[in-house]
Amino acid sequence: MDGGEEVLWVEKYRPGRLEDMVDQEAAREALEGMLPNIPHLLLHGPPGTGKTTAALAVARRLFGESWRENTLELNASDERGLAAVRERVREFARSLPSGGAPFRLVVMDEADNMTGDAQQALRRMMEVHSGTARFILIANYVSRIIEPIQSRCAVVRFSPLPREAVEARLSQIAAAEGVSLDSGALEALWEASGGDLRRAINALQAASSISKKVTAETIYKAMGKASPSVLRAVLHELIMGDFNRGVAELRRLIKDESVDPLDVIGFAHYDLLSSYSSYKLPEHLKPQLIYLLSSSHYRIIRGSDSLIQLLGLSSKIRSLISSSVAGSEPSV
Ligand SMILES: Nc1ncnc2c1ncn2[C@@H]1O[C@H](COP(=O)(O)OP(=O)(O)O)[C@@H](O)[C@H]1O
Ligand SMILES: [Mg+2]
Repeated sequence: MDGGEEVLWVEKYRPGRLEDMVDQEAAREALEGMLPNIPHLLLHGPPGTGKTTAALAVARRLFGESWRENTLELNASDERGLAAVRERVREFARSLPSGGAPFRLVVMDEADNMTGDAQQALRRMMEVHSGTARFILIANYVSRIIEPIQSRCAVVRFSPLPREAVEARLSQIAAAEGVSLDSGALEALWEASGGDLRRAINALQAASSISKKVTAETIYKAMGKASPSVLRAVLHELIMGDFNRGVAELRRLIKDESVDPLDVIGFAHYDLLSSYSSYKLPEHLKPQLIYLLSSSHYRIIRGSDSLIQLLGLSSKIRSLISSSVAGSEPSV
């Protein structure tokens, strides 16, 4: 590190205002409509789609400059237990907001990670302090929030971000940082992040520290993933081509490039069995392949040497496929 401040782009480019967020029109409109006298809120939806960003934007709208003093941010999963949460909320909700607002704000992230009992206690806190505090609960899965909390909150849903919105935002950030992105890089960011804008921005920042010209290769490298084209080639060598060359290449990926062995299995699953597969394997082989893939997956998770597992898996798949080709089963 050069001693300079490492600013995280996810924070640097977190929109401060609801109107500056991408997509999420329905959620933003719902929140706008309730401001300033908001009820308790439950924001839910997939990770990296703007829930925390929206909660903090609401805080800014309510309290202006003094939003930090008037907002208590808690995370349900990393607190030292419920008693500590209760005490902090009690302490916080006791003093009145500065700047004339009628209540203070408690933002409780990952509320769906709380047990049912803890959620009951949270519900009581919401009631006890409703005179002086509003709660914004954030969750990935609304179904994991107990009904009595849901019924006390205005429930606001955040949708998965569409690809155009993610790509537009990433392009904007890249331009602001003087980083060039080719279309393969945008594709890789979308694929590797699964629509989670936080992951995508983090990957973009990591890749741009390798090179200001960001490509699909640097994205996968920054994320510790092998690119699909590399995995496809290795897999093909191992099960159809030059086995020894496949072994050497796989060893290099796992040992030297720290590719996650489970990513290799995930990719093999996709490349052999999905409807996009170019192998067009006969249907009767598929259950056996799934069984082989899942057993190796399981053994790797249980701590077996992953390279040995992957090599054993490849040779089984190889003989399965070659005996089926040699045998009388028609492939179409
Ligand atoms: N709708 C959005 N508009 C603009 N940026 C977003 C949006 N959603 C996520 N981001 C970016 O991703 C980061 C993580 O978003 P956050 O709101 O914390 O996600 P979560 O839904 O997991 O709470 C933010 O700092 C911001 O940079
Ligand atoms: Mg969040």
